[in-house]
Amino acid sequence: MEKLWGGRFKKNINKEMEKFVSSLSFDKKLVKYDLLGSIAHAQMLGKCKIITKEEKNKIVEGLKQILKEVQESKVKIITREAEDIHSWAENKLKEKIGTVAGKLHIARSRNDQIALDERMYLKEEVLKIQDLLKDLQKSLLSSAQKHLGIIMPGYTHLQHAQPLLFSHHLMAYFYMFERDKERMQDSYKRIDVLPLGSAALAGTSFPIDREYVAKQLDFSEISENSLDAASDRDFILEFLSASAILMMHLSRLSEEIILWSSQEFDFIELDDSFCTGSSIMPQKKNPDAAELIRGKTGRIYGNLINLLTMMKALPLAYNHDMQEDKESLFDTVSTLETSLFLMSKMIETMQVNKEKMEKSTKGDFSTATELADYLVKKGLSFREAHKLVGKIVVHCLEKKKYLEDLTISELKSFHKKFSEKALEILKPQFAVEAKDSYGGTSSKRVRESIQKAKKILKQ
Ligand code: ARG
Repeated sequence: MEKLWGGRFKKNINKEMEKFVSSLSFDKKLVKYDLLGSIAHAQMLGKCKIITKEEKNKIVEGLKQILKEVQESKVKIITREAEDIHSWAENKLKEKIGTVAGKLHIARSRNDQIALDERMYLKEEVLKIQDLLKDLQKSLLSSAQKHLGIIMPGYTHLQHAQPLLFSHHLMAYFYMFERDKERMQDSYKRIDVLPLGSAALAGTSFPIDREYVAKQLDFSEISENSLDAASDRDFILEFLSASAILMMHLSRLSEEIILWSSQEFDFIELDDSFCTGSSIMPQKKNPDAAELIRGKTGRIYGNLINLLTMMKALPLAYNHDMQEDKESLFDTVSTLETSLFLMSKMIETMQVNKEKMEKSTKGDFSTATELADYLVKKGLSFREAHKLVGKIVVHCLEKKKYLEDLTISELKSFHKKFSEKALEILKPQFAVEAKDSYGGTSSKRVRESIQKAKKILKQ
């Protein structure tokens, strides 16, 4: 195959070497953006009279035909046919329109071209990911709304801590994913910068119009420094970082889903369509989707570390090392998109076991803080009250009783300020409703939070 750079060479490339440098097997994913970028570039060359109108028309027409053939799957990108997607597109153009195809690459280098393709690709994917995040938030929100009123144990250290509304727990994830959406939105700003026109590293001596290209390709800004633009992969790193945090959130939710669907918890039942069975144990129904999302978090972190390490200490400007950015990026995008989709469907279709959740809040001492707060409201210091309630818990453990089994005379034997009211506050329902501070778990606050979340989704 003919090389774009063949002129300077006397010998052919070594076969192993040829395979080693090739990126076409993975950068073919960028074909649409490469062609669209080339169309805009050719139009600009025509407009600035760097090529003639006829040349421009021929080139643009040829590129549009190739794009159509690609989109209709009439042409296949065969890996051994070119070194990378840029060479492939130029070769195809030459087959179609002849040597005038060679004018397309005026005032351009593959270095600014690849940066352009990646930015165009990522702009689309970030928007898709934001939509998928929104769908997941919608699932959480409608589940929170549907199950409003169900009480579950809240945990710290995975030990029962204080009772919560299940909806409050779901809404915690809503707000995590809201921050993830914001991080994606923020990274978008720095992706949305046109690098084309930087050429190899120093800019070009041709009278190009970068603003025009930016407008054609819908970029909000153009890069300020040609050397920076050809070397910069921050925009990918930032996306991979935001993705790693997002995936961490998904892994926490996955872990809870796995725990909740175990026999021990039995808080939820996942829909059959998101589980698989065992080849040996006929009774098994495993939460595979959640397990795999949890497991794939490893590769999402790995992709970030891969790119950070690859970029470390690279001198300016382009180095061939940078070709290694693509597989990490593509892998993160596709893993994230599938994980978000599956998580949203899992939440949407799961059954919630109200009885089991509420049963678990009984007899777990999780209203002990309520009892301490009660004494504080009667004038004790919090430390005094804490100590006293600790003693009551020990008493219960020795007598094999729960807090809610205590009689008023037993309570009074610990402190004279206990009254009948103290027995009431030991109910989980009371403990939940008492947490009425802003952002707390009382039904009033959770309803407020659901309303606010609806507004957020409308924005
Ligand atoms: N395939 C290359 C990459 O993905 C495109 C840029 C090549 N530039 C070069 N000077 N070899 O990074």
